[in-house]
Amino acid sequence: MTVMPISRMGAEVLKSRAAEVRDATDPAVHALVDDMLQTMIASHGVGLAAPQVGAPVRIVMFFVPAMRNNGVEIPLTIMVNPVIEPTGPDQAEDWEACLSVPGLTGRVPRWTSIRYSFTDLQGDKQVRDARDFHARVVQHECDHLDGVLYPMRMTDMGSLSFSDVLRAEAQAAGEDIDIDEEGVPLE
Ligand code: NI
Repeated sequence: MTVMPISRMGAEVLKSRAAEVRDATDPAVHALVDDMLQTMIASHGVGLAAPQVGAPVRIVMFFVPAMRNNGVEIPLTIMVNPVIEPTGPDQAEDWEACLSVPGLTGRVPRWTSIRYSFTDLQGDKQVRDARDFHARVVQHECDHLDGVLYPMRMTDMGSLSFSDVLRAEAQAAGEDIDIDEEGVPLE
């Protein structure tokens, strides 16, 4: 297993549509997933998409800590060829950050309720429903497979900020703020 360098905004691999994976049980797929997992852990991320490590294929991984999901942890989930559909009309804005856009954060509108399906590493189809933060993380990661970074989803660029500046401002004002690094709650 190898910790891989993370592609940053501007890299071609982050701009294009990633290719479907033909066989999720292929050992080469599993080797890539192992490297992605090491990279995600080393980067303190809670999500990572294959294009972020330079691999233009439709594979993402994430987990959701219990503290961000009403006390219910979503364990590490590895998705091959994921597909998302909204299951309700509502969107909500919240702060997001991205390992490929280091140091910055901004408010991004996302569907609050989705159904997502994917192939697991055994080659089996899985379907799940998700809401709120869980739904947000899945949408953020899957966007990476279509060449979309979160700033491209922002409707008010006025909220785009350096994370450390925003945290310092919030602290000075006595406010709490959750900023996520690929979904990671930062201290
Ligand atoms: Ni990201």
